[in-house]
Amino acid sequence: VYLIFCLPFLLLPVTCMTRGADLAEDGPLVLCPDCSQYRMSVFGTGVYASVSSVCGAAIHRGIFGRSGGTVRVHKLKGRHSYMSSYAHGVQSQALSHWTSSFSLSSRWSHWGGTKPNVCSDCQLDIAMVIDSSNNIGRRRFNLQKNFITKLAAMLKVGPTGPHVGLVQASGSPQTEFLLTNYTQPKELLFAIKEVAYLGGDTNTGKAIMHTAETFYTQENGGRRGHPRVMVVLIDGWPSDDLEQAAMLARESGINVFMVSVAKPAPEELGMVRDKDFVQKAVCKDNAHFSYSIPSWFSTTKHVKPLTQRLCSLDGLLCSKTCYNSVNIGFLIDGSSSIGDSNFRMMLDFLAGIARSFDISDIGARIGAVQFTYDQRLEFGLFDHPRKEDTINALRRISYMSGGTATGAGITYAIQNLFRRTGPGRNFLIIITDGQSYDDVQLPALEGQKKGITIFSVGVAWAPLEDLKAMASEPKEGHTFFTRDFIGLAEIVPAVVRGICRDFNDKN
Ligand SMILES: *[C@@H]1O[C@H](CO)[C@@H](O)[C@H](O)[C@H]1NC(C)=O
Repeated sequence: VYLIFCLPFLLLPVTCMTRGADLAEDGPLVLCPDCSQYRMSVFGTGVYASVSSVCGAAIHRGIFGRSGGTVRVHKLKGRHSYMSSYAHGVQSQALSHWTSSFSLSSRWSHWGGTKPNVCSDCQLDIAMVIDSSNNIGRRRFNLQKNFITKLAAMLKVGPTGPHVGLVQASGSPQTEFLLTNYTQPKELLFAIKEVAYLGGDTNTGKAIMHTAETFYTQENGGRRGHPRVMVVLIDGWPSDDLEQAAMLARESGINVFMVSVAKPAPEELGMVRDKDFVQKAVCKDNAHFSYSIPSWFSTTKHVKPLTQRLCSLDGLLCSKTCYNSVNIGFLIDGSSSIGDSNFRMMLDFLAGIARSFDISDIGARIGAVQFTYDQRLEFGLFDHPRKEDTINALRRISYMSGGTATGAGITYAIQNLFRRTGPGRNFLIIITDGQSYDDVQLPALEGQKKGITIFSVGVAWAPLEDLKAMASEPKEGHTFFTRDFIGLAEIVPAVVRGICRDFNDKN
């Protein structure tokens, strides 16, 4: 019997400058942003004076790198001396006497540094997609129900813990209950018991598609910011194609796990439509997301290892998507040649782009700068953490009217918009209708060197050489042009796809 200590799942976003003393509670799991642009003060080694930057100390301790991560902070009493040392690229300073201190541990260290045990830290939204086909048959269907009952019990489903819903795969997928229908363990176990066998084809692809499309929405009880997991159980092999469905699930940030029980025997392989179905369906084709159980008659010993795998948050690589892990800056030409109504169309275009992303304080972030000869920060990446507010803020931008100094605009955007960013990749989308009076190439290169991917969108008189000079490589994929402002609306999907393509290439 294990004694498991669970701290509540509390993920506290902090800045690079947050000091240990700024944290009210003991033991929170804090989320540090990318701190590569900051100089942070750190005092001590192992035990840090509470004037130290928490994120700086975590980098010094080697818990994560400069690009950020999560760390648990433990408050300690003050000490008479703190030792200086150089570690992981951070120089910590010595200090004699301070009133309080803190130490750090990686998020799973209560389990001795190993993967987490089963615990209420596991705040997942889980869809169980079970096999209800002729293939499995009534008897093994019941064994499958036993298995997921044990799985649900071990997951410790609860109002603030993991939520579990259930979909049956057969000819057509059938949702039995949603994530929030049963959040008490007893009710859930009873509901699983009541699920009736359907029979029919094994259209697992259809079931994954159905689940990815409908299951995790807020109306259906999906919780914002909670990792999404789909556990697909399959006896034998699917009778339909999984590839499209799996792609949709991945793009939606869903971590698909395939649990195959009773794999096809060698003599059956000829009947299998796609032998690589497991590799195609999983979130990422590594050993983590596929799990094989030889027979329905010996599933018990697999309950715990599978639960641990599902609950290892670090393994849920597919929770980050191009829609929820990007910082996007808009650099908007406000020169006189555009005119008020065309300027509105430019804002509509940008609102169309913004609408595609999951904007929130834990998701994508959007900011905007308008430029003429002058520059104006319309709103920063951290100003509007809700999508509707971002779109309203875009619509409210008032037209400046003036000259066109795009190069100066780029420099200003890099310095002001991207000074501090959320986790994820950085993109700058430049929209202009004409020739710049200053050089655009050097400022754009500066931005690219800082890790900002630049898309240029030209309208009317915008010269193609300028657009290409600003855009990231490969130029063709990052340069867009339309003759008139009405044409902008059609470019929206291409720009969004471009952002997702860049995001996926680098991840
Ligand atoms: C689950 O909840 C939804 C919405 O809250 C409701 O419409 C549906 O009837 C519930 N289903 C069950 C099986 O209780």
